[in-house]
Amino acid sequence: MAKEIKINPLYPSVDMLREKARKRIPGFAFDYVDGGCNNEINLARNTTDLREIQLMPYYLRGFKKLNLSTELFGEVYDAPFGVAPVGLQGLIWPGATEILAKAAHEHNIPFILSTVATADIETVAEITNGRSWFQLYHPAEEELRDKLLRRCEEAGIKTLVILSDVPTFGYRPKEIRNGLSIPPKMTWRNMVQITTHPRWALSTLFAGQPEFKTVKPYIPKGLSLRHLGLFMNRTFSGRLNDDRLKQLRDSWKGNLVLKGVASAEDTEKAIAFGLDGIIASNHGGRQLDHGPSTISTMDEICAEGKGKIKIMMDSGIRCGPDIASALAKGAECTFLGRAFMYGVAALGKEGGDQVISILKTELQQIMEQLGCENIGSLSNHLIE
Ligand SMILES: Cc1cc2nc3c(=O)[nH]c(=O)nc-3n(C[C@H](O)[C@H](O)[C@H](O)COP(=O)(O)O)c2cc1C
Repeated sequence: MAKEIKINPLYPSVDMLREKARKRIPGFAFDYVDGGCNNEINLARNTTDLREIQLMPYYLRGFKKLNLSTELFGEVYDAPFGVAPVGLQGLIWPGATEILAKAAHEHNIPFILSTVATADIETVAEITNGRSWFQLYHPAEEELRDKLLRRCEEAGIKTLVILSDVPTFGYRPKEIRNGLSIPPKMTWRNMVQITTHPRWALSTLFAGQPEFKTVKPYIPKGLSLRHLGLFMNRTFSGRLNDDRLKQLRDSWKGNLVLKGVASAEDTEKAIAFGLDGIIASNHGGRQLDHGPSTISTMDEICAEGKGKIKIMMDSGIRCGPDIASALAKGAECTFLGRAFMYGVAALGKEGGDQVISILKTELQQIMEQLGCENIGSLSNHLIE
């Protein structure tokens, strides 16, 4: 049975949770989740372009029953949105990965675990009863890739998400200034931020330093911070190409999803290589600043791929009406990264439930207002 929808009336929107998060966690942690690359143009454009979309209500058509469910790879989910993979979640709030995985599972929505999250594959698979998806940073080393795939299989994970949009790490001035690392660099600035956020500091101290739990066994012991950075860089950056796609398709028997698609050309390739789904995404504006907003790529992606491959979308979504707009443009499911992180940063353990409850309530409301009974019909309300 689906978990009850309950909204804490002090923070009834993602924007309000974001403002609370800004006050509750140190600046370097907030900047990490909130910021984008370069001049943060695409970060802003993702949401403003989504909000250019207009939907037409039809008040006099009959309305029987609202159905928010979506079907992805044989699983029926209760709502057409899920938790996007986010690395280093435990820096934002201790146990953030586990909190969000549990909330997603209880509300029956998809959850994607990042390779560099702060909980491991096995723990999250247990929390979600094997229903979580796993996002693989396509590692340069084949041996490591195979070990991770084997662990996913053994944990019962059926859907693998691979990234195409991190051929190189994004240039993020705020992270550079903050010296983002694990543990946070003890500059005066960071120390002041930690001491002025005692709840975060105590909770983090109590929970222990966040770690990259999934990849921890492969990190050589005793690495200095500088060398840990180099290790991660060498191991997890790399350009996806035809050979790597083919190898992955051959070795992974479950559902294979490509994340970071922005063009008809990449959509066509995903179809040609026999992938099961794509996530149209620009990584929430963290990789390429002068590219297109994700919603603006949906027309060409859908023209190429609709009916041939599952099309999902993320980047810039902050509320139920944003989800409705993305679905109206052809997405069959949406994902959110920052919105869930703001929730956990603002409310700790209650954060996941709060964000899901807000989004579900807002989506329900807009669909009833439009006179739209199911998510597949939202495109009929699009004003072109
Ligand atoms: C702080 C942060 C860390 C992220 N880490 C990852 C990651 O490890 N793997 C990944 O596939 N995407 C990562 N993403 C991108 C998200 O999966 C998603 O594409 C993006 O957040 C969607 O945009 P939104 O935040 O506007 O919802 C990260 C995003 C943020 C904000």
